[in-house]
Amino acid sequence: MSEPVVITLGVTGGIAAYKAADLCSKLTQKGFQVQVVMTENATKFVAPLTFQTLSRRPVITQLWEHADWKPEHVAVAQETKLFVVAPCTANFLAKYAHGLADDALSTFAISMHCPALLAPAMNPAMWSHPAVQENVRILQSRGVHFAGPAKGRVACGADGVGRMASVEEIFLAICELAGKR
Ligand SMILES: Cc1cc2nc3c(=O)[nH]c(=O)nc-3n(C[C@H](O)[C@H](O)[C@H](O)COP(=O)(O)O)c2cc1C
Repeated sequence: MSEPVVITLGVTGGIAAYKAADLCSKLTQKGFQVQVVMTENATKFVAPLTFQTLSRRPVITQLWEHADWKPEHVAVAQETKLFVVAPCTANFLAKYAHGLADDALSTFAISMHCPALLAPAMNPAMWSHPAVQENVRILQSRGVHFAGPAKGRVACGADGVGRMASVEEIFLAICELAGKR
């Protein structure tokens, strides 16, 4: 039997974080091993326990939890075959584009050289801001894949481009990138 493909699923602090629980469940059911890494702000929207139960694996929320001989960001990076961030905040886009590493997720992000897929989710005014668009261009020029964002109504009531792509669309993009359809 072949080893399960390990996906690191980053969850950042946007209202769409609750949808990531469904994505996590679908990926686990498909046979992927899902390592969830949440930013501190993401834990204000959804409890780590939700992801821990769905992924059947402890969730990482900070760098200093496990005093192992091998730093965790190195261990996670080595086993990850696909890096996914859903939802991806404007803040994480900026950090990833510029190589900041000030929490667990951003440190893992720049420790990995595997394919990456981001599913941005934010208010349309944030998405259309030149700083955000410039960060998207930087990441695209490095080969980072994007799912969405989609057009429609966002949680705060505004209409425009910024909604997270549907869980189904993100799931299919992951299966495609992981060669598992
Ligand atoms: C109720 C609420 C909803 C938010 N939703 C979003 C969002 O959908 N997208 C986004 O980029 N930021 C959103 N933010 C702002 C982020 O939480 C904030 O920029 C934070 O610093 C992101 O941190 P992180 O990227 O480390 O998770 C929201 C903030 C609040 C209070």
